[in-house]
Amino acid sequence: MSETVTHRETAEAGDRLLRVDGLSKFFTQGSGILSSFFDNDVVKAVDDVSFDIRAGETLGLVGESGCGKSTLARTVLRLLEPTTGSVYFKGVDLADIGGEELRSMREDMQMIFQDPQASLDPRMKVGPIVEEPMKAHDLYEGEREERARMLLEKVGLDPQHYNRYPHQFSGGQRQRVNLARALSVNPDFIVCDEPTSALDASIQAQVLNTMRDLQDEFGLTYLFISHDLSVIRHISDRVAVMYLGQLVELAETDELFENPEHPYTEALLQSIPVPDPRASGKRGVLEGDVPSPIDPPSGCRFRTRCPKLIAPAEYDFTQEEWAAVRRFTRAVQRRTFEVESETRVRHEFFPTGVPGGDGGAVVERAIEAILDARWDDAESLLRESFADQSPCARELPEYEVEAERGTGRHYAACHLHADGVDETGGELDG
Ligand SMILES: Nc1ncnc2c1ncn2[C@@H]1O[C@H](COP(=O)(O)OP(=O)(O)OP(=O)(O)O)[C@@H](O)[C@H]1O
Ligand code: SF4
Ligand SMILES: [Mg+2]
Repeated sequence: MSETVTHRETAEAGDRLLRVDGLSKFFTQGSGILSSFFDNDVVKAVDDVSFDIRAGETLGLVGESGCGKSTLARTVLRLLEPTTGSVYFKGVDLADIGGEELRSMREDMQMIFQDPQASLDPRMKVGPIVEEPMKAHDLYEGEREERARMLLEKVGLDPQHYNRYPHQFSGGQRQRVNLARALSVNPDFIVCDEPTSALDASIQAQVLNTMRDLQDEFGLTYLFISHDLSVIRHISDRVAVMYLGQLVELAETDELFENPEHPYTEALLQSIPVPDPRASGKRGVLEGDVPSPIDPPSGCRFRTRCPKLIAPAEYDFTQEEWAAVRRFTRAVQRRTFEVESETRVRHEFFPTGVPGGDGGAVVERAIEAILDARWDDAESLLRESFADQSPCARELPEYEVEAERGTGRHYAACHLHADGVDETGGELDG
C-alpha cells in the first residue's frame, strides 16, 4: 500500500462515526427442536460487508428487493446479532459492550422504518408517542412535553398537534411524527429504512427536504436505504450499492452516477425510467431474477445476470463471437425461440457462422441438442462449458479502491478492473 493511501486512511478514520468490518448475517431456515439434526438452508442475507460512515454525512444504500438492505441496517444497530464481523460506533466495538453501556449507545442510534403507520401506536396521542423514547432512556425529565412540542414544530408539524391521534394525520405527516420521535433522544446517527417509499412523489420530496434541514440543524449522520435511485441521488453524499448480500460499489454520489464502475450499478442506472417517453434511453437491461441468497452463484454473485461476463480464457472467442454465444445461451435458457429449422437457428444467432475451435464445437453440440428437443441438455452444456468457466465464476472479485476522485475513494468489486484481466480473462463482451 502506498504512503499516500495510508495517510488518507488516517485522515478518513478521524471523522468516522461508524465502521462496519466484515459484517455477515446468516439466517437458518427451519426451526424447532429437531432443526439441529437436519441440514438447514442458510440464508446469506448479508455476507462480508465493510464500509464506514463519516460524521455528518448521508450514506445511501441502494439495491433490489431482498438484497439484504434491511438486514444490514438491523445488524449494524445490533437489533440483530451478527453472524461474523464487527460494528464500531464512535470507535467502540458494539460487541464488547452490553447492558447499560449498550443501552446508552442506542440512544445515539435511532431507526425510522418504511411504514409510518406500523411504528405508531394508534391508541396513543402524538405527544406521548414522541416522549416515549425520552422516558425509556430517562432523559429530559420535567421538560419532555416542551421538547416534544418543539420537535413537532421542527419536523414541520403544528405543536398544537400534540394532542392528536396518528389516524388524524396523512402518511407524510405520520412520517414526520416518527422523525420527531427519533430525534427526541438527541441521537447522532439515524438509520432510515425506505422512509419515504410509501409516500407520493411530491410528499416524498418535502419529507426528504425536511430530513436534510434537520441533518444540518441537529448534526445528524444518516444511513439512508432506498431502492429508488432518484431518491438516493437526492439525499446522499456517498452511495453504496448492494447486490445479493454484498456491497459491489461505493463512491461519492456524483462520481457513482457519472462514472459507475460495476456492471450492476450501470444496469441499475440504465434502468431508471426516462421521464420523456420519446427520449432515447435503454431500459430493462437488468434481465433475469436475483438468485437465491441460500445458494448464491460462485465467484461474482452478479455473474448470472451480468451483460459483461468475461469469456473463459480457454476458448479463443473474439468479442463478437462471445457476444453471439452469450445471446444464444440466454435465449436457450429462456426458451425464447422456436426451432423451425437448423438454418433459421444458425442464421438468427450466428449470421456470420458458428465460431471455430473448441468453443464452436460446444455450440454445434448445443444446436444439435435443441434440434433434438433436448433443451435441458443444451442449457447445461452451454452453462457448464461457458458461463461456469468464466473467471467471473471462479473467483470472487476483490472489493477494492478503483479510483480516487474528488475528495473520496471509489470502491468496486469486478474482475474487469483487476490487473492483468486481459492476459487471463480472455476477451470482454460489451
Ligand atoms: N428472519 C429471517 N429469516 C430468514 N430469512 C430472512 C429473514 N429476514 C430476511 N431474510 C432474507 O434475507 C434476505 C434479505 O432480506 P432483507 O429484508 O434484508 O432485504 P431488503 O434489501 O431489505 O429487501 P426490501 O427492499 O424488499 O426491503 C431475503 O432473502 C430475505 O428473505
Ligand atoms: S466480475 Fe464478471 S460477472 Fe461480476 S460484474 Fe464484473 S464482469 Fe460482471
Ligand atoms: Mg428492506
